[in-house]
Amino acid sequence: MASLVDVHTHVYLPRYASWLRSRSIAPRILVNEAGEERLLILENETSAGRPVGPSYWDRNAKLSFMDQHGIDISVVSFANPWLDFLSPLDAKSLAHDLNTDLEEYCATSPTLSFSSIKRIYGLGLLPLVPGISISSVLEAVSQIAKAPHLKGLIMGTKGLGKGLDDDTLDPVWQAIEDNGLVVFLHPHYGVDSSAWGEKENGHVLPLALGFPFETTTAITRFILSGAFDRFPSIKILLAHSGGTLPQLSSRLASCIDHDPIVASRLKHDARFYLGKLWFDAVAYGPEELAFVSEIISRAGRYESGTSNTKAIADRKEGSKRMLFGTDHPFFPPLSSSEKWKSVVENLEAIESVSGWGEVEKEGVSAGNALGFFSIQ
Ligand code: URA
Ligand code: ZN
Repeated sequence: MASLVDVHTHVYLPRYASWLRSRSIAPRILVNEAGEERLLILENETSAGRPVGPSYWDRNAKLSFMDQHGIDISVVSFANPWLDFLSPLDAKSLAHDLNTDLEEYCATSPTLSFSSIKRIYGLGLLPLVPGISISSVLEAVSQIAKAPHLKGLIMGTKGLGKGLDDDTLDPVWQAIEDNGLVVFLHPHYGVDSSAWGEKENGHVLPLALGFPFETTTAITRFILSGAFDRFPSIKILLAHSGGTLPQLSSRLASCIDHDPIVASRLKHDARFYLGKLWFDAVAYGPEELAFVSEIISRAGRYESGTSNTKAIADRKEGSKRMLFGTDHPFFPPLSSSEKWKSVVENLEAIESVSGWGEVEKEGVSAGNALGFFSIQ
């Protein structure tokens, strides 16, 4: 069976890349003076952009990357900024075509040896843009639910333009929950770029800080809207180990308790909801993984007044909701190397978490993902 499953790995399928090539403003793919293609997707990104090539769209390149790093199975998702920049009409038709393409990409991927399990499964996307009808979004949910190799969908933080606490989305959450689909919540916009000052720091500040904080804000707003109380079985996977939510969860709980408008809105202490989420293990360090696993496990105990700390037992329990990821094809090595540092660091982090034994490491590396995505 599989010993390494990558749940955070992206693709720009050829149809999407062509769309980006046809655009004259970001997000776009342009050809620079040296005749090389460059990807421009982040706010205020200079026209130098990032190198982009087959690792973004070619399945053979994805499979070679997997082989190079010992990854048996990948659960591939579309990369940011998805369909966010399109009109409702274009978003609806491209969502349909891309979900069809992705199902085909997965269905025709090789199988593991001596098994009918595929090496690639997928997370589709929804036409979540302002002005689209909910019935169009629900059609996409149902298309994904019917696709045998799509296990859920990736979603940004904007919803229909008003974020994930927009009550209009309730039928969408309901359909996702009813179909047992996974929602992979992933950032794109970061935070207001005026926070980054004037020094040229490349993409470091938006990627290292802006991305995780965007995820934190989006899932916090979802929690504050009471959506988890209305959809208690919804399966949400947070990118980058939940951003800063684990670090801020007790502060969040305290702010709620002291706020006359919100204090009695939720059924549970805010920390309870962390125990209902799943977290990728894309945190690059063992201490961070240890901390997140401990927090996840303690989450549900605060309201029963039994939050006494049992660090190692908590880390083991919390690890069951953490899943290995790479963020491929992003973060390639700056100079050629056999293995990607970004991947090796995440693998080494899993190996070195104090308190995780073989069972927990195996779970985070593969077993948790097989169960979470019902890959069998
Ligand atoms: N940069 C992006 O634009 N997206 C990712 O997922 C990672 C890095
Ligand atoms: Zn990513």
